[in-house]
Amino acid sequence: MSVVRPRVLATQTADLQLAAETLRAGGLVAFPTETVYGLGVHARDAAAVERLFRVKGRPADNPVIVHLADLDALGQVAAQVTPLARSLAAQFWPGPLTLVLPAHDEVPSAVTGGASTVGVRVPDHPVARALLAAADLPVAAPSANRSGRPSPTTAAHVTADLGADVEVVVDGGACRLGLESTVVDARGRVPVVLREGAVTREDLGLDDRGSDRLLRASHPPTAPSPGTRYRHYAPRCAVEVVGPGQGRAIAALRARAGAHVGLVAAAPVGADVGAAGDRVTVLAAFRTAGELGQQLYGALRRGEQAGVDVIVIEAVPDVGIGRAVMDRLRRAAGQLG
Ligand code: TXA
Ligand code: MG
Repeated sequence: MSVVRPRVLATQTADLQLAAETLRAGGLVAFPTETVYGLGVHARDAAAVERLFRVKGRPADNPVIVHLADLDALGQVAAQVTPLARSLAAQFWPGPLTLVLPAHDEVPSAVTGGASTVGVRVPDHPVARALLAAADLPVAAPSANRSGRPSPTTAAHVTADLGADVEVVVDGGACRLGLESTVVDARGRVPVVLREGAVTREDLGLDDRGSDRLLRASHPPTAPSPGTRYRHYAPRCAVEVVGPGQGRAIAALRARAGAHVGLVAAAPVGADVGAAGDRVTVLAAFRTAGELGQQLYGALRRGEQAGVDVIVIEAVPDVGIGRAVMDRLRRAAGQLG
């Protein structure tokens, strides 16, 4: 175990006890989940939540997700657990699905961004669950990046962004999914997707026409998650999304025009990108949309570190997990939010 400032801990029981005590004492603890690293604080400690917002540089009206060790604690966070929430939790928890429900009185308004609802999920990561169980608290945790930066998918990403501003980083290796959870409004009779994620519309039994039809019947339209209004996932260089199979050609074109180019494309990419090859750095090669999702944020950060002018990324079909991937790609390219 290497101990630095912040304390980067391994995932043995003793370390998790120390991390859990830090949470109980109002400290900031970054920890791995199956989606991305979260920056956790005691959700009922309003002062700790306020510090969390300061450290992230997060707008006060953007609510944070409360994380639980298991379903049993849901009643401490939500004032009302709808039949829909019960059935989604039974189907998808632990897992990358956040349910928005009426907030319990004991949840500080800093957590809910001043709204009457709260987002809550049970993550599917052994370290996250062990930490949450040891802390025995609801833990408010946004992604552990500085606001506006790509979400962290390794402990090194967390320390690069937040440095000594957090007490503890629990290092659980790379996150399995690499994209944030799906956020759904679960107050009505059908789920309303507020942010795309690893649990897909197809998984939820929604297709675009079907959900619209059901929505009109049961529920007024709901605004997307407040967080989706802000520019997100943005690296410090340009991002250009291109069609499937076009990455190499467009990267070579940009390189011939004098740019240092980062390339993220479907495998195999190969080193041959024409005469401009030495000005093209391959940042990631993916076989599936899920693999692109897993590698995307790391590739954006690697591109920055390599000092590229532009990252060229091949699009994937806008279905299934591809919908969440394309949502993040468009945001990184500044086309949304
Ligand atoms: O996978 C994830 O969700 C990760 C891990 C750490 O759990 N967390 C995460 O948190 O992505 P954050 O804060 O980066 O994004 C939370 C999103 C924001 O878009 C926020 O607006 C939305 O969830 N959200 C949280 N509570 C909400 C609520 N009560 N109503 C609507 N949207 C909510
Ligand atoms: Mg975030």
